[in-house]
Amino acid sequence: MRALLLGTLLSAAVFAGQFMPNSACKECHPLIYEEFQSSMHANSTIFKDPIHKAVWNIHPLKKKGSYDCAACHTPAADNLQKLIAPGDVVPDENDESQNQGVSCAYCHRIKDIKIGLKQNINILNEKPKLYYGTKQDHIKSPFHEIDTSNANFLKGNVCMGCHSHKKNRFGLNLCSTNENMEIEKSECVSCHMPKVAGSVSTLKETQKHSFHGFAGAHRYNEMLSKYVDIEFLPRLEDFEIAVNSKAPHDLLLHPLRVSFLKVTVIRNGKQVFNKKEIFVRIIGSDGKPTPPWKAKEVVKDTMIKANEKRSVKFGFKLQKGDKIKAVLGYRLVKPPMLKKLNLQNDETAKKVYVLKKAEFTL
Ligand code: HEC
Ligand code: HEC
Ligand code: HEC
Ligand code: HEC
Ligand code: HEC
Repeated sequence: MRALLLGTLLSAAVFAGQFMPNSACKECHPLIYEEFQSSMHANSTIFKDPIHKAVWNIHPLKKKGSYDCAACHTPAADNLQKLIAPGDVVPDENDESQNQGVSCAYCHRIKDIKIGLKQNINILNEKPKLYYGTKQDHIKSPFHEIDTSNANFLKGNVCMGCHSHKKNRFGLNLCSTNENMEIEKSECVSCHMPKVAGSVSTLKETQKHSFHGFAGAHRYNEMLSKYVDIEFLPRLEDFEIAVNSKAPHDLLLHPLRVSFLKVTVIRNGKQVFNKKEIFVRIIGSDGKPTPPWKAKEVVKDTMIKANEKRSVKFGFKLQKGDKIKAVLGYRLVKPPMLKKLNLQNDETAKKVYVLKKAEFTL
């Protein structure tokens, strides 16, 4: 038991401490605070993310009272290590600290990242009010100290404690942006936190600040669509549509996701052709899909890879004047999983999201 407990503790954040609540930042950073409230980081807990909750509900660790997910989904909890360790301490909606998500103070106190086999570990500083940042020309804050010399923050490596990789007990990588575990120069910030209009704080007027809504698959995907192009390649006998992704990771990452390219041809106002190409990564064992905790292999992987240009052939002969419409979209939860997770009535889980649309005329 002792050994088991120790193992679990080590896989969590090493430092358990009190974090300033997000609301403490609102007064001086109102714009950043508002954006953050709408982000998946503010909504990463089982109380606010129905998809995360649905998977937790059927997870074998739930029966053991071991909310192992907390290290990344509820990292600002006062009782983080007890939540993670097996036992009677389970997630509690009335605990304010468990409702903070990947909180402002948590993220800004990440001092270092330790590379781990199953997942990485965030090492935090021990001062509740010492925050790392990247703005060299900042003024002093009356509320907290600022340190802009942390190399992990400067290079955007700060994301790698949680997003690098997550392996299960069979060593299968369930989800990763960083397959080769090179945390240097991860550069996530340039696309997911672009500079947008509005002041960093109320105490000194600045033109711009870094977007804290964290553009992603749930929210603000329109900010990411410019990193994917749809190209039309006409041929004599058929035609091709290419999806050109400039993302440095798979187009979608979580194993619940499914993406598609839907193509229709309109001739004289009528639809004469339509086809959907699916891009998906399925994990499982013995060639069949399983939940992540049982998966031993990648059963199928047609997901668009990092920096890949994927061409799809459509065996259809076009005529002059044809209009070709292409839609690149996705769902957060694969349709066959909706019922299994009891999410068939959840709008976020059911919805079809559009990342990019294009129209061409021959
Ligand atoms: C190492 C950090 C880490 C741990 C531990 C972790 N997760 Fe996650 N989880 C993430 C990250 C990062 C994402 C976002 C992935 C993405 O969007 O591609 C995520 C996303 C998810 C999603 C998708 C949510 C949505 O709204 O679409 C589910 C479901 C999920 N996790 C379930 C769990 C469960 C259940 C556990 C515990 C048994 C767990 N996770 C443990 C990092 C982690
Ligand atoms: C009383 C006002 C006040 C409060 C409250 C406050 N801040 Fe700040 N903060 C500032 C000022 C002023 C700056 C400097 C802004 C500038 O130079 O443009 C700043 C800058 C920062 C920076 C930027 C560092 C950099 O240079 O990149 C971070 C990070 C930060 N604050 C985090 C927080 C967090 C997290 C909270 C809540 C826990 C918080 N702040 C609450 C006033 C405040
Ligand atoms: C403490 C762990 C942690 C850290 C550090 C972290 N994330 Fe996340 N991130 C998560 C979790 C957990 C989720 C999934 C939340 C959910 O869907 O329930 C997530 C989700 C996301 C999403 C998906 C949003 C969406 O709309 O689908 C993006 C994009 C993202 N993170 C980017 C970043 C970037 C960029 C950084 C670094 C600046 C970062 N994250 C740092 C844990 C973390
Ligand atoms: C060149 C721009 C670019 C960079 C750099 C980038 N991403 Fe992304 N990211 C994207 C695009 C495009 C998507 C797809 C968004 C969609 O489908 O709505 C995406 C999606 C995501 C998602 C959501 C995936 C899912 O399945 O829910 C997460 C999480 C994420 N990125 C994290 C990261 C992290 C962490 C880094 C740094 C290692 C990073 N990204 C670097 C462009 C980028
Ligand atoms: C997932 C990690 C993460 C979370 C959560 C987070 N930040 Fe940040 N924040 C960053 C990163 C990374 C930067 C640097 C961005 C850059 O270099 O462009 C940053 C930049 C800042 C800055 C510097 C000014 C700017 O806009 O460039 C301030 C101030 C700040 N954050 C405050 C906050 C506050 C307040 C919250 C919560 C309401 C918060 N942050 C939540 C990662 C995070």
